[in-house]
Amino acid sequence: MSSAAGVFTHIDRNQYNIHAVRLDKDGTWWLLDPNEPMDSPEALARAAGMRVVAGDPTIEGLVIIEPGERTLDIVRVDVAFPVLHGPFGEDGTFQGLAAMAGWPCVGSGVLGSSVGMDKVLMKQVFFQNDLPSTDFIWFTKKSWMAESDRILKAVNQEIGFPCFVKPANAGSSVGISKVKSAEELWTAINIAAEYDRKILVEKGVNARELECAVLGNHQPQTSVVGEILPGNEFYDYEAKYQSEGSRTLAPADIDNDIAEKIKWMAARAFSSLDCAGLGRVDFLLDKNNGDLFVNEINTIPGFTPISMYPHLWEKSGISYTELISKLIELAIEDHEDRKCLKNSRID
Ligand SMILES: Nc1ncnc2c1ncn2[C@@H]1O[C@H](COP(=O)(O)OP(=O)(O)O)[C@@H](O)[C@H]1O
Ligand SMILES: [Mg+2]
Repeated sequence: MSSAAGVFTHIDRNQYNIHAVRLDKDGTWWLLDPNEPMDSPEALARAAGMRVVAGDPTIEGLVIIEPGERTLDIVRVDVAFPVLHGPFGEDGTFQGLAAMAGWPCVGSGVLGSSVGMDKVLMKQVFFQNDLPSTDFIWFTKKSWMAESDRILKAVNQEIGFPCFVKPANAGSSVGISKVKSAEELWTAINIAAEYDRKILVEKGVNARELECAVLGNHQPQTSVVGEILPGNEFYDYEAKYQSEGSRTLAPADIDNDIAEKIKWMAARAFSSLDCAGLGRVDFLLDKNNGDLFVNEINTIPGFTPISMYPHLWEKSGISYTELISKLIELAIEDHEDRKCLKNSRID
C-alpha cells in the first residue's frame, strides 16, 4: 500500500477529485472516508470507509452497500456459466469479474480466454509450442495509417495471395476477407481496421475445415473430429448464420492417423493456452499437400443443442445434459485448485 499512499499524497488535487478505494484480502471493497489520514500504508490499512460494490455499467461507479441492513436480496452464485460471445464474454473480462467476485466459472480463466480471443497472441503461443499455424504478419491500425506502403509491400513479399485479412479480435468471421490480389488488399485491411486496433494477414490455404472439441482441465479429453462444409467460398458470416448451404459432418471422413493427430494437437493447443473446461479447436487441412494447421481455438464455442461442440460430444458418447453437468463440475474443480494456492485471495 506504499505506492497507493504515494499516489494519494502526490496526485494534483487542483486537477483531480479523488476517491480512495481499498481492496481487502477477503475481496471486500471499501470507499475510504476522505477525512481519514492516508499518507502511509498503515494509515490506508486502518482508514474507515463504507462497503462498496462495482460492476454495473449503467452506474459507471461504485454502489455503496450496508451489509446487515440490506434493502435488496442477495442471490448466491455457486457457479457462473457464461454463455456469451465476443468482448466482455469470452475475452477474459467476464472471467476476471467472476474471479474477483470469487465465483467458480465454467470455461477458461482470464489468461486462456484473453489469449484465445487475440488471434496474434494465440498464433504466437501455437508456434512456441510447435503447433503449426499459417504464416502471418500483424500490425496495428495506427501503423497501417502511418506506413501503409511498407505494410502492403511486406504482405506481397512475405505472405502472397490468396491471403486472409483479419481483425485480431474477431469472431463469427466479422471483418475477415479473403484477398486474391494486391489490388484488393487495401480495402480488406481498411475493413479489418474498423473492428480492431490490431490486424493480421495470413497465408490462405486451400483447405478442408476440421474441428475437435476439448473437455477437461488437466489432461483434457478430445472428441471425434468433425468437418465444416461451407456453403460459400470460405466460412464467412453469411455461410455461418444466413445461408442454407453450409453443412457439418461428424465424424469427418478422414484417415485415422489424421484424426489422431488432430486430437493430439487440439489437446496441446488447449493446454498451451492454459484453457480450462471447454474449447473447440479448428484446423485447416491443406487439400493440396495434406499439411495440417491449427486455425484457432474458441474458448466459448457455439453451444446450442445442435452446435458443433455439443454435437461432437454427442457423437463421442456424452449427451448435451451430461456435458453441461461435466462443465459445472470442472468449473468447481478448477476453482478448488486455485483456492488452495498460497497467494489465492479467495476464501
Ligand atoms: N489461413 C486461412 N486459409 C484458408 N481459410 C481461412 C484461413 N483463415 C480463415 N479462413 C476461413 O475464414 C473463416 C473464419 O476465419 P477464423 O480465423 O476462423 O475467424 P473467426 O474467429 O471469425 O471464426 C474460417 O472458418 C475459414 O473458412
Ligand atoms: Mg473460426
